[in-house]
Parts: sequence; C-alpha cells; structure tokens
Amino acid sequence: MTIIHRIAMIGFGTVGQGLAEILVEKGDLLEQQHGVRFQIVAISDLLKGSLYQATGLDPAVLLEVVRRTGKLEDYPVNRGLFTGLDSLETIRRSNADTVVEISWTDVQTGQPAIDHVKAAFENGKNAVLTNKGPVALAYNELAEMAAAEGVQFRFEGTVMSGTPAIRLAQRALAGCQISQIQGILNGTTNYILTQMEAGQSYADALTEAQRLGYAEADPTADVEGWDAAGKAVILANVLMGGDLKVADVDRTGISALTLADVEAAKAAGERWKLIAKVWQAAGTTRASVTPTRVPLSHPLAGVGGAVNAVTYTTDLLGDVTLVGPGAGKMETGYAVLGDLLEIAEGK
Ligand code: HSE
Repeated sequence: MTIIHRIAMIGFGTVGQGLAEILVEKGDLLEQQHGVRFQIVAISDLLKGSLYQATGLDPAVLLEVVRRTGKLEDYPVNRGLFTGLDSLETIRRSNADTVVEISWTDVQTGQPAIDHVKAAFENGKNAVLTNKGPVALAYNELAEMAAAEGVQFRFEGTVMSGTPAIRLAQRALAGCQISQIQGILNGTTNYILTQMEAGQSYADALTEAQRLGYAEADPTADVEGWDAAGKAVILANVLMGGDLKVADVDRTGISALTLADVEAAKAAGERWKLIAKVWQAAGTTRASVTPTRVPLSHPLAGVGGAVNAVTYTTDLLGDVTLVGPGAGKMETGYAVLGDLLEIAEGK
C-alpha cells in the first residue's frame, strides 16, 4: 500500500527545485522501496508566485514552467488549481501534511521563517527546514511547540546539507553520550583556505567561492564565521542540550588570514582550518569558531575544498567522524527528502 505524503513548499529557489528534481527522478523508486509517494500540493514563493492544487502538482511541469518563464502561475490552468495565496494562507489552507520551509531567511531575526514554522504547527502540520535562522535562533521554543502540537520538526539540511550530521548523532549514535563536537561546518571558508594553500589570493578565492554558489548572499556571514557559529549553535542546542544564542559563540573568522600565514603553516607541516567546536564546561554548553593550525595528521586536515566534516566524541565509541558535502542544490534537496522520508515512515 502506498502512503501519499502531501507537501507545501514555502520558497521555490535552488533547494526547492533540487527537491522537485529528486522527486521527478526518484518518485517511482521511493514508492517501490519505501511505499511513499510525495506529492507537492502547494508552493508559495515571494518572487515566483504561488500555486495550490489539493490533488498534487506535477514536479516536472513545475520545473519546466519556472525555467521557461520564472512564474509559477504559468502552470497549465486546470480544475482545482488556485493561485495567489501568500505563504501563511498556503500553510493554513492547503491540505499538506508537511510544510517545507525553504524561503529566504533573515539570519538576524529568523523571520519570516519562524512564523511559517509556527503557523504550520498551529495548523497540525509538520515542518522541514533547511533555513538555519529559525533553528539557530528558536530551536528550543519551536521543538516544544511541535511536541505540544504532536507534529514533527526536522532540519537536517541546516548543517552539512544532505550529509546526515544530525541524523547520525540522533539515530545511529543513539545511546552514546556526545561530550564534544568538532568540525568544519562552512564550505566557503574551507574552499578559500584550500585555494590559498595552492597560492590563490584570499580575494580571488572568495570570488571563486561566490561564483561556485557556496557563499551566502552576504559572504561576510561565511568569512567572519557567523554561518559556522549558527551551525555550532544548532548542534549544541539539538545534540548537547544547550541553550546557546549565536552571540554566545566565541567567534573569529578567516578574513585576517594572509597568504604568509598559510605559507608559514604549510612550512611547519600544518594547515589552517576554521574549526567549530562545542563542548561542556562547568555544566554549561559552550561553542567556538576559530581559525586553527592543525597538524596534517589531524582527522580534519585532509578535508579540502567546500567539503564539510564533523567529529563527535562519544563515551561508547570514541571519535566518530562524518565527511561530506555541506552545500549544493541536490545535496540540500536531498536533506529535505531524508527528513520527509523519516516523517512519512513515522521514524
Ligand atoms: N555558505 C554556506 C557554506 C552554505 O559555505 O557552507 C551552506 O550552509
């Protein structure tokens, strides 16, 4: 028997289109292997417009229309198709089981995504996010609200995109106590440091990272460590019981590092990495983001380019390290799929 799981997407940019591509490519396989068919019933995007069809929209047609005209409302007219709902109306009025919140987020306030997530919960809908803002700023409040409403709150894509950093810790390492988390959580800065070691200037490497689509809209968030700090807060609060704010993170970026600093490390058999760390001290959870010279033998030293990595220090297994992509269209689309599968399968 196939379960139909209906989703409403708030935002249809890179991640949303990545998810739609995955559903086009893998919809049948997912149904065969997992007994679930994901149906996009609604999309609301600030720039591209909105659509709602309770019986489901065709993801291949959605992608084609957006590529051709950039306007969702050019989707073929048919009975039962509504247009013009805003994001909150889409969340409240659609028959979606899960709201996929992948709109643009203000990293200072987390809005409007926090309100979208709350509206989903108030209307008995699960929420899946790739936006870091709401999770970094309001995880504890939103998790309590989801529990009270009996719905699911998932956000694998906020840290290391589809590389299952959160799921690994919560599920595969269940029963282990995590005493420390250390990782490379920002692809842009790791790419810049790798390129600088190969002789490229900081400015050129940053421009290249922007061209390749790794960097945030304002790359200050990457190079000054804000993005990594937000991810460290998510890991601290979700996996280590913390109640940290981004401002609590002891944070230094990489903008002051010069080619001479990189060369000096290289000559000493070391390498600069922007290391995010979460640990317990005197009963409280602490976090830092710091450019650090690590020996080449360090488990994170070999992680180059835009790749991310995280090492969990556990009581029963010692150190467990996960390495994988930290950004990208299909990679982050996959993060959403993983969360949706878990929800649909009741995990
Ligand atoms: N700007 C981020 C990075 C994107 O470079 O890692 C993924 O969160």
